[in-house]
Amino acid sequence: MSKQADQKRLTAPDIRARKGGAPIVSLTSYHAHTAAVLDRHCDLILVGDSLGMVMHGLESTIPVTLDMMILQGKAVMRGSSHALVAVDMPFGSYEASREQAFLSAARVMKETGCGAIKLEGGSRMADTIAFLTQRGIPVLAHIGLTPQSINALGGFKTQGRDPSDWGPFEADARAVADAGAFAVVIEAVAEPLAAKITREIEIPTIGIGASPVCDGQILVLEDMLGLSPRAPKFVKRYSDLGPAIDRAVAAYAAEVRERAFPGPEHVYALKKVPAKS
Ligand code: KIV
Repeated sequence: MSKQADQKRLTAPDIRARKGGAPIVSLTSYHAHTAAVLDRHCDLILVGDSLGMVMHGLESTIPVTLDMMILQGKAVMRGSSHALVAVDMPFGSYEASREQAFLSAARVMKETGCGAIKLEGGSRMADTIAFLTQRGIPVLAHIGLTPQSINALGGFKTQGRDPSDWGPFEADARAVADAGAFAVVIEAVAEPLAAKITREIEIPTIGIGASPVCDGQILVLEDMLGLSPRAPKFVKRYSDLGPAIDRAVAAYAAEVRERAFPGPEHVYALKKVPAKS
């Protein structure tokens, strides 16, 4: 049986159907090899525009381009076969008009083969989300702290800590659900607000810094592996790979300098020539 036939990839409707059911497990990936590992454990892999900071050392996600997202989206699709892969739409590729959003999203889907796109924004993006979903593009929405609006928000600040501020966030959640998003990422909001939104809308909420009340969770892989120099309070470090990599590179450097690496087991000898009889 072909690989395709025995392992069906999850779709946006499969994730949508998980509302109120088993929690949706999601992480980010930008590479084929990490995607292959995540694919064994995750329902949803996000090729996040956080790659700007994680892979490229940028200060924010603002400079990330569509070409960068497509290149890494292709790598993640090659590395995975089970999880739904969603690719983030970078800043400037979708906000000008719903037509601009459609052309950018169609390019992402054609060139990567991914099953969905993600975009930031609630009520203000509802018309665009409806336009895309009616034209065959599954949309994962993203509300709460939206990193592409960092300059307008004035920093990476937790949202909704005062119940008198909740109205716009609830309206955002309602708007993206009504517009046809199959799920919504809620970032860095106070737990009671995340709970209220999760109760109020029919699509799954996927939390990042939004407490366990959400229908699923997502983290940036490098943050939870302990590879990012700084990580927000909501990240649990499941490993501490930074120091482990440092130790491995230090050992390699020392062995190269001492000529202890490569050892005889890493060296190619000449072909053995059979002795003449
Ligand atoms: O870009 C990203 O990695 C994201 C997640 C943090 C949700 O948007």
